[in-house]
Amino acid sequence: MTVQQILHTVQLSKEELSKLLSATGDDEKVLFNYAANVKQQHVGNTVYLRGLIEFSNICEKNCYYCGIRRDNTDTHRYCLTEDEALEAVRFAHENGFGSIALQSGELSSDAFTRKIDFILKEAMRITNGEIGITLSCGEQTEDVYRRWFESGASRYLLRIESSTPELYAKLHPNDELHSFTNRVNALERLKKCGYQVGTGVMIGLPFQTAEHLANDLLFMKQLDIDMCGMGPYIEHARTPLYEHKLQLLSLRERFKLSLKMVALLRILMPDINIAATTALQTIEKNGREQAIQIGANVLMPNITPKRYRDDYFLYENKPVSQQSDEDDLKFLEKQLKNIGHEIGFFKQGNSLHYSAKNER
Ligand code: 5AD
Ligand code: SF4
Repeated sequence: MTVQQILHTVQLSKEELSKLLSATGDDEKVLFNYAANVKQQHVGNTVYLRGLIEFSNICEKNCYYCGIRRDNTDTHRYCLTEDEALEAVRFAHENGFGSIALQSGELSSDAFTRKIDFILKEAMRITNGEIGITLSCGEQTEDVYRRWFESGASRYLLRIESSTPELYAKLHPNDELHSFTNRVNALERLKKCGYQVGTGVMIGLPFQTAEHLANDLLFMKQLDIDMCGMGPYIEHARTPLYEHKLQLLSLRERFKLSLKMVALLRILMPDINIAATTALQTIEKNGREQAIQIGANVLMPNITPKRYRDDYFLYENKPVSQQSDEDDLKFLEKQLKNIGHEIGFFKQGNSLHYSAKNER
């Protein structure tokens, strides 16, 4: 079968997805064009913004790939004050972001739960309930998820990182805190609480094959997610996974593979929200725009107070803009216009997939 014929298959199999993930040259172009058309038909050319607030880099976990893991003593730890977080919310609201994403290392303390809860309530109050809020604060109990939902968070992003338990086990310590099953259960809890649920994976990890990635796509389809944030794995010298860096694909290859993952997910799930992630931009300056062209429809510009940005150091060469956030936004708008897209200013940009599901 040609790539065009495979793409027309309603249900793509693991084997077909693996084949498409290795498409190059003209085949790759066919895939990207196809995905761009699917995107245009289902979510159009509007790009929604989520002002990304990297709330705290303090984390109880020790994931082998992550620069802010607990055992990395080289990291300067911070946590925004309530006022600093709310200042960023205000900035987002005034500048038409429509939504914010509050992201943090994982903490299970009561103090943390309460602080997030307070920020959610205040964010709703100062924006007259107009701002959409996505949380990304790791695995929590059902009570905590429910409490945060009631206080104003309507979406939650919890990446599965890899949907293959054996690969997941190579990326995390072997203990209860890092169990694959707990992770999947947390995603189920989020759905039960009523969130628009997002997940995602890292692409180009050591030990990862095309088949693993094909499984990841099918996992997302099966979980019936509403949103996705995924991007290339980028090694960090102060992490255990760094010792495998010689077996990695080149950055360029990891980037290309990530674009193919975005394109294929768009084809599999035409009406979900897919973010063009920062890790793409780390490899290619216009990486996010390239992802928008072939399937993504959400951007998450960083609006964390500037003095903290260097410390949210998940991986190497994470971009930190020298311009003001206002100037960055103007630049982004221009770049998007050049590729035929517009920003959905003042719109929350909720997942169409979620609304469709709930109307059924
Ligand atoms: N490369 C790319 N992404 C990473 N993340 C953490 N470490 C890395 C890395 N080295 C991503 C994970 C996590 C999110 C907070 O950042 O997917 O879910
Ligand atoms: Fe903590 Fe998330 Fe990093 Fe794991 S990936 S160490 S949970 S911040």
